[in-house]
Amino acid sequence: MNVIVCNNAEAVADKAYEIVADIITAKPDAVLGLATGSTPVGLYRRLIEGYRQGKLSFRKIRSLNLDEYVGLPETHDQSYRYFMNDNLFDHIDIDKAETHVPCGTADDLQKAADEYTRLAASMPRDVQILGIGSNGHIAFNEPGTPFDSETHIVTLKESTRRDNARFFASIDEVPTHAVTMGIKTILNAKKIILVATGTNKADAVYNMINGPISEDCPASALRNHPDVDVIVDRDAAAKL
Ligand code: PGA
Repeated sequence: MNVIVCNNAEAVADKAYEIVADIITAKPDAVLGLATGSTPVGLYRRLIEGYRQGKLSFRKIRSLNLDEYVGLPETHDQSYRYFMNDNLFDHIDIDKAETHVPCGTADDLQKAADEYTRLAASMPRDVQILGIGSNGHIAFNEPGTPFDSETHIVTLKESTRRDNARFFASIDEVPTHAVTMGIKTILNAKKIILVATGTNKADAVYNMINGPISEDCPASALRNHPDVDVIVDRDAAAKL
C-alpha cells in the first residue's frame, strides 16, 4: 500500500483529484468506481471544478458505484443514486445512462445483485474510489464479510446505522439493509484510492495497514491488491 499522509481534509481531496484527473486525461473513456459518504465529496467538488474550467470531460466516462440502501427509491434524498446525481453527475457532462448504482428496490434483490456483479465484470474499473467505515468496512462490507464476496445484500451493523444517522431525521429512519459490491468485486479494480479523514477513522486506518489481514477488518483485504493509494489526513493517520 502506498500511504500518503496529508495535512488536512482539503489536501486529501487535492491529492485524490490529482490522481483521478491524470487517469481521466490519459484515458477519456475510463471506468470509474465511485463511492458515497462525506469523505469523497471534496474529490467530487474538484472534479466538477475541473469540468467547469474545461480541464476534464466525462463525455465518454462510465461509472459504477459501490452500494445502495435497500428500500430507498432513487428520488429519496438519502439514496446513494440521489447522492451521486446531486454531488457529481448533475454537474458534469457524463451520460447518466452510463452511470450505475446497485438497485435497492428490486423485487428480487439478490437477482439484481448478481446482475450487478456481471455488469462490474463487463466493465473493468480503471480506478476505484473508497472510503472506510469506523469499523473498517469498505462499501457496506461489514466485519466478517468473506473476502471472496461478490455483490450481495447485507444487514447493516448498529455502529454503521449510528454513523449514518446524522443524515436522517432519526436513527429509526436509517435503512436496516443495503446492497453492496463484495470485497472480491472491489478488488477487481485496476487501481484503488482509499480516502479517510478525521480521528474517528484512526483505528480503522491503523488496523487496515498494520493489523492482521482478516475478515474482522474488511479494509485489510486491500493489502492483497497490487496498486492501492491510501490518502489520509493527520487525524486519520494519528495511530500509524
Ligand atoms: P464517510 O463514510 O466518508 O461518510 O465517513 C465512509 C464509509 O462508511 O465508507
